[in-house]
Amino acid sequence: MTMQTPLAAAARPLQAGSPPAGWSHQHLLDLEELTAEEITLILDTAVLCKEATEGCRRKIDVLAGSAVVNLFFENSTRTKTSFSLAARRLGADVIDFSASTSSLSKGESFIDTAKNLQAMGIDAVVVRHGTPGTPHLLASHLNVGVINAGDGPHAHPTQGLLDILSIRERLGDLKGLTVGLVGDIAHSRTARSNIWGLTKLGAKVILCGPPTLVADGWRELGVEVSHDLDAILPRCDVLNLLRIQFERQHTRPFPSVREYAHLYAMNRDRLRRAKKDLVILAPGPINRGVEVTADVADCPQSLILDQVTNGLAVRMAVLWLICGGRSSTQASKAAEGRIV
Ligand code: NCD
Repeated sequence: MTMQTPLAAAARPLQAGSPPAGWSHQHLLDLEELTAEEITLILDTAVLCKEATEGCRRKIDVLAGSAVVNLFFENSTRTKTSFSLAARRLGADVIDFSASTSSLSKGESFIDTAKNLQAMGIDAVVVRHGTPGTPHLLASHLNVGVINAGDGPHAHPTQGLLDILSIRERLGDLKGLTVGLVGDIAHSRTARSNIWGLTKLGAKVILCGPPTLVADGWRELGVEVSHDLDAILPRCDVLNLLRIQFERQHTRPFPSVREYAHLYAMNRDRLRRAKKDLVILAPGPINRGVEVTADVADCPQSLILDQVTNGLAVRMAVLWLICGGRSSTQASKAAEGRIV
């Protein structure tokens, strides 16, 4: 059955096999390299994807014939699952590559492995790795699209995008909003991607956490730095509660988890002292009782599960923007409105 949806209409610029108007990137490595207009284009495309798939639940086939490889070298629940599902929702084939059972364990290099995958005719690699810059290295060796799904503590662009989309959905235009990023800024790839995205769209960003996890040097990125959550609380429209990344820390950054929670966990008492419609975000996984108490994590102001749905929408948008221009065959299918 032929059905015209907003996505089919938006897919029209793909007719000639060229990327959609306003999009000229082969890869998505971090938000630093994007303009405010390009970030907005991804967010608007995510909204179209969400509508066309009835809230990310239905399948459309605009990427039928494309193949996406998930190359994850660090643990993941939300990001890996949602990249896989997003690709499948758009009709692409997905390969979940397992490093431990691959020829990497026989000594094959990372680049050789990736080039072999490329030789199988894939269209994009979604990569998560503990070493900052790994996606950039891949992008310099491959012709296919490379999407950064988290490189060590450096960047996590789709997390930044889904956080911003969730804020925009609840509060509208980002301009003039004050967003507090609270917690382990030093080791969080989510922090940097949020800072780049939010500041480009006109929001004010305040970083907050213990001095051992929030250094003054972050001010160079155009943000405010605070070590006192109670002091900044009344000014914030949004709080994004970042997990303490114990797995990346070599020394303890504070005397005890209990003390950290006392000073920085978002709890009922703090919620009462915040703006009435304060929005609570957390990238997940959340540690209930550390960065956020269970009642606040589950309260109506918390968008934690909306973020997960928006993650699917943002990843569909990114895959579509990056893979959509690669094949004129699939493009003409999209243009015909062949949506199932
Ligand atoms: C984040 C990550 O892996 O960087 N989570 C995620 O992608 N959903 C944040 C975290 O692990 O705390």
